[in-house]
Amino acid sequence: MARPTVAGNWKMNTSLAEAQSLASALKVSIGDMNGISRVLCPPFPYLTLVREAVAGSSIGISAQNMNYQEKGAFTGEVAPNMVAELCDYVILGHSERRALYGETDESVNLKVEAALKVGLKPIICVGETLAQREAGAAESIIEKQITKALDGVDKAGDLVVAYEPVWAIGTGVPATPELAAEIMEGVIQRCLISLYGEPAALEVPLLYGGSVTPDSVQGFVEQACIHGALVGGASLKIDDFTQIIKTVAKVKGVS
Ligand code: PGA
Repeated sequence: MARPTVAGNWKMNTSLAEAQSLASALKVSIGDMNGISRVLCPPFPYLTLVREAVAGSSIGISAQNMNYQEKGAFTGEVAPNMVAELCDYVILGHSERRALYGETDESVNLKVEAALKVGLKPIICVGETLAQREAGAAESIIEKQITKALDGVDKAGDLVVAYEPVWAIGTGVPATPELAAEIMEGVIQRCLISLYGEPAALEVPLLYGGSVTPDSVQGFVEQACIHGALVGGASLKIDDFTQIIKTVAKVKGVS
């Protein structure tokens, strides 16, 4: 089975002091668990600080984005090697980056390849907008996003995929577990199986994201094809994020 995984996407939130105290508190509450990956995704300027705050625990660190080029005259950008020096994971293709910063399936693909090359685990985000869902295009959009993101990627080994319906992000209205499972098993896992075969495809952690809370997470991870969550707002609250991780661990039978 894929490893249960919960990542907290802090987005463009926290001050330096808040990042420090959030990470230190989470080191105590979730720093020492087995069988479940716990990942913090702070803003770039706090990566070093958060990494130091959780040192000695098994908490992983992720960036929220990166450039795919190695180095050069790209003012304001961050290269794969820079991220790899501080992080284990990198979130790629988040819908906010697709909608606001011109991220495309092609750029996500270049970033996925660059991340794998430097030993980072990409958390590849896919998801349809409300208009796409209402037009009956959700499945074809997700299939296109996942297939293009993985173009030329020959191994499933280090991949993580997050299904985040755009209409569920930050709205307080999550998808239903059944709807999420339909896409995650019926489209994402099916694509992974056709690319990498079983059992490799079934080892890829599939995360649900979009208004995940301590209350809603249980229903999602009770679905066999959902191995964890990508959490936004609730990952900024120590108690909520801790509870979400403990619920996922319990439902998946790990400690
Ligand atoms: P949310 O964000 O949990 O605040 O809806 C999820 C995400 O965008 O990763």
